[in-house]
Amino acid sequence: MKFGSCFSNCFSPPSETAIINVNQQDPQGENDENFTVFSYNELKLATRGFSTANKIGEGAFGCVYKGLHANGSIVAVKMLSIELESMRGEREFVSEISTLTNLKHENLVTLKGCCVDGAKRLLVYNYMENNSLAQILLGGEQNRIKLDWEARREISLGVARGLAYLHEEVKPHIVHRDIKSSNILLDQNLIPKVSDFGLSRILRDDVSHISTHVAGTLGYLAPEYAFSGRLTRKTDVYSFGVLLLEIISGKTVVDFDLEHGEHYLVQKAWELYRDNRILKLVDPIVGMNYPEEEAVRFIKVGLLCVQEKARLRPEMSLALKMLSNDVDMELDQISQPGLVADLMNIKLGQKTMTLHSLYSKASNLESTPSPLSSCS
Ligand SMILES: Nc1ncnc2c1ncn2[C@@H]1O[C@H](COP(=O)(O)OP(=O)(O)O)[C@@H](O)[C@H]1O
Ligand SMILES: [Mg+2]
Repeated sequence: MKFGSCFSNCFSPPSETAIINVNQQDPQGENDENFTVFSYNELKLATRGFSTANKIGEGAFGCVYKGLHANGSIVAVKMLSIELESMRGEREFVSEISTLTNLKHENLVTLKGCCVDGAKRLLVYNYMENNSLAQILLGGEQNRIKLDWEARREISLGVARGLAYLHEEVKPHIVHRDIKSSNILLDQNLIPKVSDFGLSRILRDDVSHISTHVAGTLGYLAPEYAFSGRLTRKTDVYSFGVLLLEIISGKTVVDFDLEHGEHYLVQKAWELYRDNRILKLVDPIVGMNYPEEEAVRFIKVGLLCVQEKARLRPEMSLALKMLSNDVDMELDQISQPGLVADLMNIKLGQKTMTLHSLYSKASNLESTPSPLSSCS
């Protein structure tokens, strides 16, 4: 790790919070030679005082700014909002550092460093020119990119590779817990990078972990996790399935403006599949010249990943093989997907909603956690 001259400026004496041990899994420090501790002032300078003009994103835990570092590199700086009472935000900061500093994969975002200055917590990443999948797929006109089938295929495969690495190659395994389009960044070549590891959890054994705090984003939440806090790698597989359907269709995963019966993308995909009209799901922007067989396969893999029973969902490496057509798919294994219809039910610990029960249920939901504070 390169602490550099700013070390003393950045690390105020350990105050209210956890000790950040960036070297948990790599005591030799072989993988973290590029991790830098930045001073608050150099990040402030790089982002022109965290100006609105430099703001490139906002999530549940903070705002992200584009910055030009004095050494010439372009960075993205995430300023986390810390809630002092609950320390919400701090946990995410520690989680992101301890997870990401030990990982290296083409399809994961690179964390360049961090800054701790009093109560301020900042994370510094490589800047991704094409922002997030959410922006280019569903954002305002000026941000959208018309993705052809090949681009959608490569993005889907890249995300699957990144997740297979987290789930099956990294030991102990890592569950991301918040796979969604705004957490998939895209570099200048549209290579996808899984990002935002603030909610990630290390699973030390193969058994599931029971979370007392269900976190994630509605529309992407696996039913068993939402209702009983049961966290496994299949929780991410569910979210990946939803994301896959989103990439193919170019539609938001939960849409309240549409007519009854069209609120949930998973529900729409299942109905089209059942009615033998599966290709109707493909985004019209893709045009007519796309490989239909491959598109059908991708949608079916998406539906397999969102099966209600976690054991019926494939592991990520298998999903990747299915997408790449390296294995035969058992098509008759696809049954009705599971769906979390309503946050109220999570709080009350009620049963999983299936698509049948959903038809008679009108709900008013929040699709993302509300930000702790708004940024400039
Ligand atoms: N490295 C980056 N390059 C470009 N844009 C980024 C980068 N990191 C984050 N963003 C933008 O900021 C948004 C929020 O970042 P994220 O890490 O998901 O924060 P949060 O934890 O608050 O959700 C992303 O959806 C994206 O639009
Ligand atoms: Mg995010």
